[in-house]
Amino acid sequence: MPLVYQHNINEATRMGVWRITEPESFFLEKVPIKKDVTHPHKRLQHLAGRYLLPYLFEGFPLHEIQIADTRKPFLEDEQYHFSISHCADYAAAIVSVTDRVGIDIELVKPAIEKVKHKFTTADELAFLNGEYRSFLHQFGLEKKIEQEFLTLIWSAKETMFKWYGEGQMDFRRHMQLNGAVHFSDDEQITLPFLFTKNQMRFLNVQARMFGEFVLAWLHT
Ligand SMILES: CC(C)(COP(=O)(O)OP(=O)(O)OC[C@H]1O[C@@H](n2cnc3c(N)ncnc32)[C@H](O)[C@@H]1OP(=O)(O)O)[C@@H](O)C(=O)NCCC(=O)NCCS
Repeated sequence: MPLVYQHNINEATRMGVWRITEPESFFLEKVPIKKDVTHPHKRLQHLAGRYLLPYLFEGFPLHEIQIADTRKPFLEDEQYHFSISHCADYAAAIVSVTDRVGIDIELVKPAIEKVKHKFTTADELAFLNGEYRSFLHQFGLEKKIEQEFLTLIWSAKETMFKWYGEGQMDFRRHMQLNGAVHFSDDEQITLPFLFTKNQMRFLNVQARMFGEFVLAWLHT
């Protein structure tokens, strides 16, 4: 089944993840392609992301999507707020009738360690360097957990970037982890952030691990 995850957050807000196994023709039956995407896999990802929107809310008017100067897709009348992400063979989308939204899906990769200085603050790294690090080290889990944690932070910040939608953000200055990351029994992760670009907001980004993937989302 291509829809691998659906979460109806409440009556007004739904999200889903699609595993892309279909050919382009499957998506083209429903999705009007306006954007010139030449790379075949990127085009499939783009189509699958759009396909999810009316899958989540049947009346979603795909043909009315416009693209802002920032490249954020939107509906002029804001009948629905939505956000899309894709990575490898997965496309994720969140749609809301009432809330501003953001979503991001990322594959955990070792390369994240090389760029961590570009998007993390000292406090965020301090959380990672807490007491449990030596415990994990005994089991050889330290590297894996570090990469997962960094990907969670990165994905949460990409989610807030999309939720904000105006582009031009400093990932270290404008979004800072503001408290402990909470891992709940149902495997949902809550990351509390202080967001300071043009406004001061406390935002709880939600996340989940799916094997080697991180899925993060936000609705307010
Ligand atoms: C726009 C951006 C968030 C997209 O993320 P990505 O990981 O490359 O790609 P994703 O698959 O997750 O998301 C792509 C989707 O995001 C959406 N999108 C693009 N630009 C957007 C924007 N400015 N705001 C909200 N959503 C946007 C689109 O729906 C796009 O998919 P589509 O073209 O098929 O519709 C990313 O390229 C970016 O610019 N990030 C900010 C980088 C930055 O400022 N870094 C500085 C600190 S290191």
